[in-house]
Amino acid sequence: SAAEKGGYEHFMAKEIMEQPKAFRDTVFPRIQDGRVVLDDLNLDGDYLRETDKIYIIACGSSYHVGMVAKYILEKLLRKPVEVSLASEFRYCDPLVTEKTLCIVISQSGETIDTLAALREAKRLGARILSIVNVVGSSIARESDDVLYTWAGPEIAVATTKAYSTQLAVIYLIALRFAELLGTISGEIYDHIVSELLTIPTKMEHILENREAIQYYASIYFNHESIFFIGRNIDYAIGLEGSLKLKEISYIHSEAYAAGELKHGTISLIEQGTLVVALASCTQLFDKLMSNVVEVKSRGADVLGLTVESRAEAMKKTVDHAILVPDTHPMLLPSLDVLPMQLFAYYVALMRGCDIDKPRNLAKSVTVE
Ligand code: G6P
Repeated sequence: SAAEKGGYEHFMAKEIMEQPKAFRDTVFPRIQDGRVVLDDLNLDGDYLRETDKIYIIACGSSYHVGMVAKYILEKLLRKPVEVSLASEFRYCDPLVTEKTLCIVISQSGETIDTLAALREAKRLGARILSIVNVVGSSIARESDDVLYTWAGPEIAVATTKAYSTQLAVIYLIALRFAELLGTISGEIYDHIVSELLTIPTKMEHILENREAIQYYASIYFNHESIFFIGRNIDYAIGLEGSLKLKEISYIHSEAYAAGELKHGTISLIEQGTLVVALASCTQLFDKLMSNVVEVKSRGADVLGLTVESRAEAMKKTVDHAILVPDTHPMLLPSLDVLPMQLFAYYVALMRGCDIDKPRNLAKSVTVE
């Protein structure tokens, strides 16, 4: 009913708008006096020092959170992080030992591929830390440690607020582990924590200005094929933006690491092809913009995304620019993903799709 949807037309819209609150609920109680406090975690510095590898296991959008997490954890912890699709993990003879920490990410906590991979990792001796939304679910029960995402019930098949809270938990883990390992300076730690507290307000700002995204959707909703390009974390966000679009609007799309374009995908760019260019990572801004110039010269329409401080530089080159507030680069995925979700939502709306229950998909997949 309309009441259940909080006055919105779809659960997905309601859940997109709930993200600032979900992020707050997940993060704020775990920050006390400027420090990340994870009371529910039984890992100490000695354990982490002994750990030689982190293996992240998940499916779908949760896997995309793992892709972001790899960049963040490797940068902050200086330990190798491998990300594996749960459905592949069991059959690849994984290099997992008692010195491996497995981070298992799942909204439902019931995805059978993920649960089976968890059991295999456990059998090989790994310690399991799961990030789960549904309290008491199978994955939560079978893990050594659980950090819950406090997103509340997610009804729409296409995840939004669960994804955002999973990212939030990754930041908390990264900060806490880096502190335990001594791989972060006090100054950087304090800066990231203070920026973390500004994320919900910045999310609200993006959501309040959603008409702009609706307008871009109205221009491009008839396209048959869309490309997302980005580098580093922006690439991981492109994967999620592309998945959201495929899931609910049924438009064929692909996400590409921007530097790989010239090794293949650029052959598909024609007059009028839409390329969504993610360039929030300011360190790689110039590199990404040179990829934008390449696709523009082959006739692509480019919808760019960057931080406000790069607005002028981007607007010179792209057809339309989506802007997100500046913050610490590690936290940007939380802002970047919102326009991606909104774009997929409005495109699907204009195409008349069944947004909350897309064809062939289930919220929780309990068959292999
Ligand atoms: C299904 C859903 C996806 C979800 C994936 C993993 O395929 O349609 O949206 O990302 O399962 O779900 P989980 O509950 O394990 O995060």
